[in-house]
Amino acid sequence: MTDIIALAESAKKAMENSHSPYSGFRVGAALLCEDGTVYTGCNIENASYSATCCAERTAFFKAVSDGKLNFTDLAVCGVKDGELEGTFCPPCGVCRQVMREFCRDNFKIHLVSAAGIKTLTLAELLPLSFGPENLNG
Ligand code: THU
Repeated sequence: MTDIIALAESAKKAMENSHSPYSGFRVGAALLCEDGTVYTGCNIENASYSATCCAERTAFFKAVSDGKLNFTDLAVCGVKDGELEGTFCPPCGVCRQVMREFCRDNFKIHLVSAAGIKTLTLAELLPLSFGPENLNG
């Protein structure tokens, strides 16, 4: 549990680097690898809005590009203009699909708010999903 609180703190800290001049919505994510390494990410917006990358994908892509492929937990939080509040920032559908590429059903997603942490599995967030094994006939 202590590890998850530390992971949540890393996600909160990652919000500081959010590049979000268009939405004003800062998101931070912290991804825990099986070997104990933590990769953080923030949302990175773009003047051409569709080029925006979410915090969760930033964290995943940093990790995968470093050769990491085994993950256990992700903490994520988001806030609009100010301090973290009592609301959660659930990962968007595209980020859930990216998680599906690299994680098993029991991968844990910890939604972090000022009021506490809600933990869900990837299977709960993305039921009846399409993944790499669907391409194997
Ligand atoms: N955002 C994330 O970073 N992660 C999510 O799962 C939801 C949305 C970002 C994208 C954009 O920069 C801002 O939040 C508003 O949609």
